[in-house]
Formats: sequence, C-alpha cells, structure tokens
Amino acid sequence: MEEQSLPQNTKKRMLSGIKPSGDMTLGSYLGAIRNWKDRALDFDCYYFIADLHAITVRQDPALLRKRSLNQLAQYIACGLDPEKNVLFMQSHVHQHAELGWVLNCYTMFGELSRMTQFKDKSAKNAENINGGLFTYPSLMAADILLYQADYVPVGEDQKQHIELTRDIAKRFNGLYSDTFKLPEPYIPKVGARIMSLSNPEEKMSKSDNGDTGCVLMMDSPDDIMRCFKRAITDSESCVRFDAENKKGVSNLMTIYSAVSGKSYAQIESDFAGRGYGDFKRETGEAVVELLRPIREQAQRLLADKAYLQSVCESGARNAAFIAEKTLRKVYKKVGFLPR
Ligand code: TYM
Repeated sequence: MEEQSLPQNTKKRMLSGIKPSGDMTLGSYLGAIRNWKDRALDFDCYYFIADLHAITVRQDPALLRKRSLNQLAQYIACGLDPEKNVLFMQSHVHQHAELGWVLNCYTMFGELSRMTQFKDKSAKNAENINGGLFTYPSLMAADILLYQADYVPVGEDQKQHIELTRDIAKRFNGLYSDTFKLPEPYIPKVGARIMSLSNPEEKMSKSDNGDTGCVLMMDSPDDIMRCFKRAITDSESCVRFDAENKKGVSNLMTIYSAVSGKSYAQIESDFAGRGYGDFKRETGEAVVELLRPIREQAQRLLADKAYLQSVCESGARNAAFIAEKTLRKVYKKVGFLPR
C-alpha cells in the first residue's frame, strides 16, 4: 500500500516487528519505526521484538537478552507509548510458535526456496543453514495472521515475506473458509531501503554492527558524524539524485530527505555549488539531532528495569488474548480435538 493513503478514523490493525539480532540501525528507524509512530489514534497497534526469528542465526544468549530489552526501551523512546500500543516479546506469546508450526504445513518448499532473504542469509551463514532460517517466513506469517493485521509497516526488503503471508492465508482460507485477514505491506515512499554508507551497493544491516557504513540508533553523536564523514560518494562533487550512477550521494540524499522532510530538488538547490564535505556534515548533523532524544530517553528507561518488565508483562497478556482467539479457530478448523 502506498504511504499517505491510510484510511482515517477506522480502527484497523497495524503490526510489525524487528529482530534483536543486532542493535537497531538508522535503516530500521527510517524503513519501519518511523511509520509505526503516531498511529495509535487511528489504529490498534501491535509491535514486538522478534526474538524467535533472531535465533535463526546463532546468538550469544546474554547479548540477546540485553538487546531485546534495549530494543523495547528504544521502541518506547521512539514514541510508542505502551499505554496506547501493545509492545511485547515474540517468545512471551507462545501462540506465535504454535501457529508457525501449523502454517509450515501450508507453506510449500518451492515458495520458501524462492525467498530472497533466505538466499542472502544462507550465503552469509553457510556453516549454519538451519531449518528455522528456511521456514522463517511461515513464522512471520503466523506473527501477522494471528492478529488479523490489516497493515504491516516495513521496509522494502520485507515485501516478499508479506506477499507470501497473503498466499498462505489465501490457501488456508480456501481450504477451510475465511479464517485470516489478508494483510497489506505499508512501505515508506522515502527511506524504504537505506544503503550502507561504506558500501552503497549493500543494504544497511544490523549484521554489519561495528562497520562505519552502519549507523546505530544508540550511537553517540561523534560516532554518527564519523560514519557520515567517511561515507562513500563519487568524484563528481555535485549533490544530485541519480540512483543508478551516484549510489552513495543518492543514499545520503534519501537519508537527508527522510529526516528533514525536504524533497530531492530542494536538497539539490540547497547544496548547489557546495562540496560533499558540507553535505555529509549537514546530513550527519540532521541524523544526530533525530537520534539524540531517542538515545537519551532509551538510556533513562533502561535504568528502570522494573518498568520495562511490567511493559513486557502487560504487552504479552494483551497480545496473547487476541492471538489465542485466532489460534483456537485454526486448531478447530484443521481438526484438532478441543482441550
Ligand atoms: P529486520 O529485523 O531485518 O528489520 C526490521 C525492519 O526494518 C526494516 N529495515 C530497513 N528499512 C530500510 N532500510 C534498511 N537498510 C533497513 N534495514 C531494516 C525492515 O524492512 C523491517 O521492517 N522479518 C522481519 C522481522 C519480522 C516481522 C514480522 C516484520 C518478524 N516477524 C512480522 C513484520 C511483521 C525482519 O527481519 O526485520
């Protein structure tokens, strides 16, 4: 679905998640979270930390726990009020794993084999191409279908998984009558695919934490400025949008546009006759100012573990209430004896 065409005043449901497999990046913010905020008046909003999905790639257990809690603090710091949005850990709502198993049985080997993310991840983790990595999309379908979500706000790279979710839902509905709502991806017009600052051919990714191409949401202003100063550009020395021939500069323009709200034409005219040095510095500064209040608020929240724990508990309770209704329906339809 195109941005800005959301229906007003109807309480449709929005749901999304992010894996705590690395620290969240500027890409996660611009591609996804930015579109989660300020929706609670018009939508029922469910946002979770996809820890079940994170273990499809080997994780250090202590670090996974830490990142999961950090991520919750960052969700809240980004403006997701837990009183108005249901925030939870995926593993706290057992219905995800249960429906994930059922949907595995309605997802075809060929469909899973065609998933771009599976191909990329298995190339990068050749020593650990496990079953979970392969069946990842049926668990993601379960995440979405359990809540009968209308819209799934994500970056461009998740579109294929949502299309598969729709196919699985249609297949199931076709076999057993209407059970699942068909969800639509909700993808931002600008910022749907932020590229690495050090290699604009590759997506900015959590798995590149530590690389100067990857800006983390919790990075200090100095670290952020260092990433932007080192950003790859080209030899033309002209701020002009050309996604084909000027990938580095176009990526920086996308970031600047997403953060400032300025159009590409406006950015081109603002920087006409000025060098890349100015452009990189001002883009970096805009990102520093965007992330500063989020980082500071997340740090404050992390000092109150009891509060974060209570958010997790009430989030899981509210999520499980909805999830259980769908799961019960599904178990009945496929022919399981009632408990
Ligand atoms: P994940 O954790 O890889 O990414 C989280 C969200 O951030 C977006 N994103 C980006 N957008 C623009 N540019 C980038 N460089 C960039 N990097 C990440 C992603 O598109 C995503 O929206 N499978 C999902 C997690 C998930 C999920 C779900 C999402 C599990 N279950 C159910 C929605 C609904 C994932 O791996 O996201």
